[in-house]
Amino acid sequence: MILKLALLCLVATLTTLSQATPVKPTCQRPFPPNTTCFNAAPAPKYNGTTQLNNIGVVLFRAFELIDVYGVIDPLQQLAHTNNRLNLFLIAETLDPVTTETVSKVMNPANSSFWPTLTPTHTFADDLDLDILFVPGGLGTMNPNVTAVTDYLKKTYPKVKIFATVCTGAGLAAKAGLLDGKVATTNKSAWKRTQAMGKANWISPARYVVDGKVWSSSGVTAALDLTFALISTYWGVDAAADIAKGLEHIPAKPLDDPFARFFNITPTAPLCHFAKGVSWPELL
Ligand SMILES: *[C@@H]1O[C@H](CO)[C@@H](O)[C@H](O)[C@H]1NC(C)=O
Ligand SMILES: *[C@@H]1O[C@H](CO)[C@@H](O)[C@H](O)[C@H]1NC(C)=O
Ligand SMILES: *[C@@H]1O[C@H](CO)[C@@H](O)[C@H](O)[C@H]1NC(C)=O
Ligand SMILES: *[C@@H]1O[C@H](CO)[C@@H](O)[C@H](O)[C@H]1NC(C)=O
Ligand SMILES: *[C@@H]1O[C@H](CO)[C@@H](O)[C@H](O)[C@H]1NC(C)=O
Repeated sequence: MILKLALLCLVATLTTLSQATPVKPTCQRPFPPNTTCFNAAPAPKYNGTTQLNNIGVVLFRAFELIDVYGVIDPLQQLAHTNNRLNLFLIAETLDPVTTETVSKVMNPANSSFWPTLTPTHTFADDLDLDILFVPGGLGTMNPNVTAVTDYLKKTYPKVKIFATVCTGAGLAAKAGLLDGKVATTNKSAWKRTQAMGKANWISPARYVVDGKVWSSSGVTAALDLTFALISTYWGVDAAADIAKGLEHIPAKPLDDPFARFFNITPTAPLCHFAKGVSWPELL
């Protein structure tokens, strides 16, 4: 019953959003009396064309491929008509970064099916980034991710948008950056990622936005988050054109069947969420 009401509440919120009218924090109603109704700050306003040029993606061993390429591919399409965009692939060293598991235990079949991606910059470089993306992957379970979390701590205050994909949110939480923020993550790794650090974790949610912090659910949600970013900062028409070109139907913020597939108890509802955010609707 509570689940059903919660969903109705979320649907109501989304409907209100799509009409671009202010969202009232009324969705506490169907929840138990002391349920927190998380408030998320509006997305900051920028003109992407002039203000969001330098885009960084963090790489580490055993990153998830789509978490990275699901972000880069739509942005590369955007760059076809915008030569101001610069891509920074940032890792601890300039050595090619492999998707190979961190330990042999996590590779019981002794597979050799691991592509690499060559970074362009290292964590030691002082970059002037506008957006930083943090992918997830099995590498987030590396017991020593200090190099990555230190880099996130150092870079977070300087970027205009800080976006995580999947279990990348766990790295941000481990770095202490999501404390008090609304965030979501991989629904099949929900408990494990939550254990990595504090956040107002939200489910169901395909992606959520809390001020400059954007976070998405697992893997292919990277695409949906990126289309929402393009739509919000470069225009909904640009985002829709690219989504059509890539033949992807972007999910809306709360389209999250995976929360159900993985039996995740819905969290407290989101009020004032995704304010200032738009997304392309192709259907
Ligand atoms: C709600 O919170 C108040 C104050 O914190 C407390 O006294 C009350 O017992 C709580 N009610 C429920 C149903 O948990
Ligand atoms: C953003 O800046 C570009 C380049 O100056 C300009 O053409 C465009 O109209 C601006 N967009 C908005 C929404 O102000
Ligand atoms: C794992 O595979 C590599 C080749 O990819 C091979 O050299 C190695 O002997 C294999 N190890 C085991 C334990 O099978
Ligand atoms: C999401 O979680 C599942 C279950 O732990 C895991 O198999 C998958 O690799 C995770 N995806 C990423 C990108 O971390
Ligand atoms: C963790 O990794 C960093 C480099 O990434 C290294 O300098 C440090 O010694 C490692 N710490 C441990 C406890 O292995």
